[in-house]
Amino acid sequence: MYFCGELMMGRTIVDTGRLPEQWIRAYQRDAEGQADYADPAWERKAARALAAFILSGLFFLALPGTFLGVWNLVIISSHRSHTAASTAWIQAHGHAQMFGWVGSFILGISLYILPKFRGRPLRTFALVWSIWGLWTASVALRWWIGIGGRGWRFGLPASAILELAAYLLTQWVLVFKSAAKTKKPQDLGSWLGIGGLSSLGAALLLNLGLCVWLALKGRSPVFPPEWDRSFLILVVWGFVVVVAWGFSTRFVTIFLGLEPPHRSARPFAAGIATLMVLASVHQFFFADLLILALTAYAVWALRIFHKPARPAKLAGAYRHYPAFIRLAYAWLIAGALLGVAADLVPHATGLGGASRHAVTVGFIATFIFAIGPRILPSFLNGRELYSNRWMAASLWLLSVGCFLRVSSEAVAYSLGGNAWTLLPISAYLEFAGVIAFVINMAATLAQPLPAWFAAQGISAQLPLYWYVTSFPKTRSVLIEAGLKTLSKTKKAPRSLSLAEAAAADHADLNHLVAELNAFFRRRQPRRVGRNR
Ligand code: HEM
Repeated sequence: MYFCGELMMGRTIVDTGRLPEQWIRAYQRDAEGQADYADPAWERKAARALAAFILSGLFFLALPGTFLGVWNLVIISSHRSHTAASTAWIQAHGHAQMFGWVGSFILGISLYILPKFRGRPLRTFALVWSIWGLWTASVALRWWIGIGGRGWRFGLPASAILELAAYLLTQWVLVFKSAAKTKKPQDLGSWLGIGGLSSLGAALLLNLGLCVWLALKGRSPVFPPEWDRSFLILVVWGFVVVVAWGFSTRFVTIFLGLEPPHRSARPFAAGIATLMVLASVHQFFFADLLILALTAYAVWALRIFHKPARPAKLAGAYRHYPAFIRLAYAWLIAGALLGVAADLVPHATGLGGASRHAVTVGFIATFIFAIGPRILPSFLNGRELYSNRWMAASLWLLSVGCFLRVSSEAVAYSLGGNAWTLLPISAYLEFAGVIAFVINMAATLAQPLPAWFAAQGISAQLPLYWYVTSFPKTRSVLIEAGLKTLSKTKKAPRSLSLAEAAAADHADLNHLVAELNAFFRRRQPRRVGRNR
């Protein structure tokens, strides 16, 4: 629609008074819906929001999570007593890891990928950014309260309310903004996702109830042990582990070349619902038995240890990562077995902690360190992993540290002796593995976007909009090469070709193409196999 030298482009008003004729005609074509290629802007916006979740997750992993965990363990080992560290600090560490790191990753990846799986990619991102802001602020507030920040009677319930609000907004986006209206989920992965996110909802409600109760009646911001255990079962086994199984049905199956998983979701649905009930009524022995049964069923259903049907997809990642995914599942089985053992031999105090870390570090962290660098870079605008060697270092350090930790914790806490001296070493090794992972992922994000096409493939007929939206740095290259009008407008018309833009500004098209060629030659992906 025209009015007084201005054109409405969506919600933007473009002042056409100063623009060349080719641009005005292109804006008109856009307004008539003649630009018929997929708009790269949506993908960029989705990847930017995902990057925010990943970066805040990495921050929580490194400092509020693992650094505080190491600190706690060093205090415990130096006093040779598992009660030496502050319970509030231990809970702050657990919260930062489960919600700050793993929760941020899961929410970000779910908001990025689930709408696509359902064929309705998101078009508005304001809600996604609100979720990120609410979640990050509330988890940070909770950590601050845990390490002794002031005003806990107000801060504790406030953080729980904000976490729940972020969760409800996520559900709103996933259910109402992106779910296909008619299709009921058919595959096991979707049902596991629903089960995992329902457990998160239950855990956040319990969290809110406990926080309000503590604020009104408690003496400190610490969950009582029985309720802390219920909360952890919901978060660790109900939410994170189940979501990891859901992601495994897609990514592990494809990347490890496995046969498709067994499809029946009913045993999982019944198991997860029963687990929520058992955890809420403090039936921990039966909850741990059920966890063991569910784990055995999941490992069988996902065919993790079956002979692969096809070769694994190794390109772009540390080539032994499939073995670490299998190792993560072996830790999961060990964690479930140790959990039952801890119930059967209650005086062996370290068994509970050993079980928890077999699951959290052995399974969750190893799983993320092994599959994350394989899939996340491609979600982040088709980036490449910064370094396979750093990925290898993170996996080996974490695994050796975890082995030392799980094997020495039960012995140290129950029998004492030399096992106490191994515990801090295990913590430093795990911390080094975490730092290698954080650096590798942050460096991956800091790299410029690679061009997954030959530099000679630059076409004068491709829209100018495609270049400047997919690779924003081309804007300054093109302006310097003569596209003056581009410097006066925020958004180029989607249907204006590079050739038309050159003609509009009397720029030399050959020179523009040569400059773009040079730009994209610098952006070629590193050769597969050439690693730092
Ligand atoms: C260097 C790595 C780590 C160290 C040194 C460490 C240390 C600790 C210590 C000392 C405890 C309390 C006693 C015990 O259960 O043994 C603990 C509890 C816990 N840790 Fe870690 N941890 C590390 C990594 C992780 C990771 C990666 C996660 C999650 C993915 C995690 C999640 C938890 C949870 C949920 C608890 C229980 C908190 C509670 O009781 O409420 N930890 N950790």
